[in-house]
Amino acid sequence: MTERLIDIVALPSRWQAVAPGGSVAGVAGLRPIMPFEYEDTPELSLYVEPQWRRRGIGSRLLTAVRAQSAEPRLVTDVVAGSPGEAFCLRHGFRRVRSQRHDLLTYCDVHRAWLGELVDAEHPGYRLTHWTGDLPSTARVEELLRSPSRPGNAVLTAADAGGDLAAYAVAVVDLPRARQYGPAVLPGHRGRRLGLWVNAALIQRLREVHPRVDEIETAGAEDDPCLPAREHLGFRPVRRTRLYEL
Ligand SMILES: CC(C)(COP(=O)(O)OP(=O)(O)OC[C@H]1O[C@@H](n2cnc3c(N)ncnc32)[C@H](O)[C@@H]1OP(=O)(O)O)[C@@H](O)C(=O)NCCC(=O)NCCS
Repeated sequence: MTERLIDIVALPSRWQAVAPGGSVAGVAGLRPIMPFEYEDTPELSLYVEPQWRRRGIGSRLLTAVRAQSAEPRLVTDVVAGSPGEAFCLRHGFRRVRSQRHDLLTYCDVHRAWLGELVDAEHPGYRLTHWTGDLPSTARVEELLRSPSRPGNAVLTAADAGGDLAAYAVAVVDLPRARQYGPAVLPGHRGRRLGLWVNAALIQRLREVHPRVDEIETAGAEDDPCLPAREHLGFRPVRRTRLYEL
């Protein structure tokens, strides 16, 4: 059944399905799966309130996102066997890979040990940080050159003489932060830079946002940075499937 009384309303970077009384029956949004230019496909989030499901509202929200955003490609993360997966298959999404979600809890992090990792010498490389709200489009190098300001994101990078080598980003949504990366650029791999920038990000994030208790991150099961994250204390909490449209 299609629910014609529902209005689909476009807001900055999200869409709402609004029921006749004004209540919100569903929402859709796009966010970067990994900020910046290295993987620029956005991630679709889509949620319909349980009492409004199977009335075509999710499909109408998806149609609005496709019609009103310029993104040629998007991905979404769903639990195996869930309504979300059935919805993706119905709409022609293609399964890309399995994803592992990991969580780090600050109370499990030994501060002195973390400090030693951050202070470890990496000859030729230097750590830098930036804080602020992530703009919708920006390059890591540009942000690192711009002044830090109050905001919900912390970016930590390693460079070699100004040449970006590795970075990791965390976006705060209290009490958690969502971490992207670390990403180590070709030409700089095999030097434990992923572990270094990640350790520095964990340390810096807590200094800037002391109320963050946990950091969540998601990535492919064969993500080359997984051993570094495990070493830092990230533990798997759930597995999902990534679909692409
Ligand atoms: C996934 C979700 C957004 C679907 O919203 P919805 O408004 O119920 O979706 P629609 O009514 O437009 O469904 C379109 C089609 O998807 C499929 N589908 C949706 N839910 C399904 C379910 N529970 N079981 C089987 N098929 C389902 C069907 O083919 C359906 O068409 P039909 O009802 O004519 O058979 C909703 O279940 C939800 O919010 N789930 C939790 C969040 C989530 O998983 N989001 C990921 C989405 S990409």
